[in-house]
Amino acid sequence: MNDLHQRLERTPVVPLVQASDADTANRITGALVKGGLTVIEVVLRTPAALECLERVAADNPGALVGAGTVLDQQQCRAAIAAGARFIVSPGLDEGVVATAHEAGVAVLPGIATATEAQRARNLGVSTVKFFPASRAGGPGMLKALASVFSDLRFMPTGGISPDNLADYLAVPAVLACGGSWLTPASAVAEGRFDEITGLATEALNLAAAARG
Ligand code: 3PG
Repeated sequence: MNDLHQRLERTPVVPLVQASDADTANRITGALVKGGLTVIEVVLRTPAALECLERVAADNPGALVGAGTVLDQQQCRAAIAAGARFIVSPGLDEGVVATAHEAGVAVLPGIATATEAQRARNLGVSTVKFFPASRAGGPGMLKALASVFSDLRFMPTGGISPDNLADYLAVPAVLACGGSWLTPASAVAEGRFDEITGLATEALNLAAAARG
């Protein structure tokens, strides 16, 4: 978790990469890295996702590449074998957490309630994904959770945009914000990778302003 934490303390934004082929995934990643974002979450949502993950991890040595939307142990094992250096899930699955821990890979399970946060903490998790952040109570809910789980860090994801990024990053327990707003499907489909670089740079500027 250390390398991940260190990077996210400097650049607290995690973009999602979703692509139907590895070349496109690599081009998206290149655009994000050019904009200053080096923690990359490749989501397992397309048939080619594992191949995308493998290529992105192998071809971008400057990036720290993980897998998102990891739903079960089998996917977790496959993602780690493909080179994932961290695992993100939308919910809390004990098998996924155990598999990642056994492999020595950071795992950020999703939580949306105090009960789930407590369960994750007691499974040895140090950072949870707060999902879906905007629907689960936004920055107000995060502050309430952080006030009782003082040893947990949070990665809010779901509904984050340039309009509300600073509100989430203003909560000290937030390690980073994740989201797909940095990699719009329309920009990918039309090959506008400069736009993705611009969104990455914008996010970093907003983060720097929010964190002083
Ligand atoms: C996720 O997988 O974390 C969510 O789909 C991200 O939500 P967003 O698309 O609203 O950023």
